[in-house]
Amino acid sequence: AAYETILVEQRGRVGWITLNRPNALNALNAQVSEEVAAAAEAFDADDGIGAIVVIGSEKAFAAGADIKEMESKTASEMRETDHFGAWDRFAAVRTPVIAAVSGYALGGGCELAMMCDIILAADTATFGQPEINLGVIPGMGGTQRLIRAVGSYKAAELILSGRLIKAEEAERIGLVSRVVPASDLLDEATTLATTIASKSLTSLRAAKATLDAAMQLSLAEGLAVEKREFAALFDTADQKEGMAAFREKRPPHFVHR
Ligand code: HXC
Repeated sequence: AAYETILVEQRGRVGWITLNRPNALNALNAQVSEEVAAAAEAFDADDGIGAIVVIGSEKAFAAGADIKEMESKTASEMRETDHFGAWDRFAAVRTPVIAAVSGYALGGGCELAMMCDIILAADTATFGQPEINLGVIPGMGGTQRLIRAVGSYKAAELILSGRLIKAEEAERIGLVSRVVPASDLLDEATTLATTIASKSLTSLRAAKATLDAAMQLSLAEGLAVEKREFAALFDTADQKEGMAAFREKRPPHFVHR
């Protein structure tokens, strides 16, 4: 597919999606959301891909939903077009997704990062939900995902005040899994994604589905999902291979099924 707002590339078993609207700090308009969703779905349909990385530029992962595109819309337009609906398709991919964040991840940019499974941050990264300054609220999952990531009082402070936080604070409160020097972000994302992608794809998908269930369900329901996903893996070639490799004291050769 020919994309205009993103760059898409496969390196080994890793699929890369680079947000590429440099003149708008990667603001997320409808075209970006459609293209990111389509690219992620294409990677997700490909058993040759075991991890996806979403990355922006040095200056901005994404400075938010496109304010200029939204400004003149009415409430019924926002509702009827499900303005951010394509992002639900992105959030639903089964393959692990890493956000590699450098520079601004604000509003929808922070929310896009939170749709990913892991957030790696350059030490230059800035996160925040500044929608309150625009007379609106987070609309791409921020009110729900931030609270699950950092707890209710931190999330409330950030969403109600619009205060921006630097990478170190984001790591301290649990929004970011690791902060790395900006010059190492690409290498660190590559290493992490390559490591993940080398595992059994079936078990990666089971792990992601179970982690997602933990965000949505009660403990009892989540434990039931875990029990089911765990048991199901015992009919896979990769479980037999992984355990045989352990017994034979050699690395596993997963066939990703
Ligand atoms: C549209 C944007 C944009 C955005 C930046 N630009 N952010 N366009 N939507 N979210 C554009 C600017 O208009 C400008 O275009 C160009 O990108 C460069 O931005 P500058 O502001 O000149 O850069 P700088 O001075 O370095 O400031 C960077 C910044 C600032 C601090 C990140 O751009 C900023 O505050 N952006 C908005 C952040 C924000 O509020 N995000 C939340 C969006 S709402 P021109 O053409 O002038 O050069 C959101 C809501 C989700 O995400 C759901 C709610 C409904």
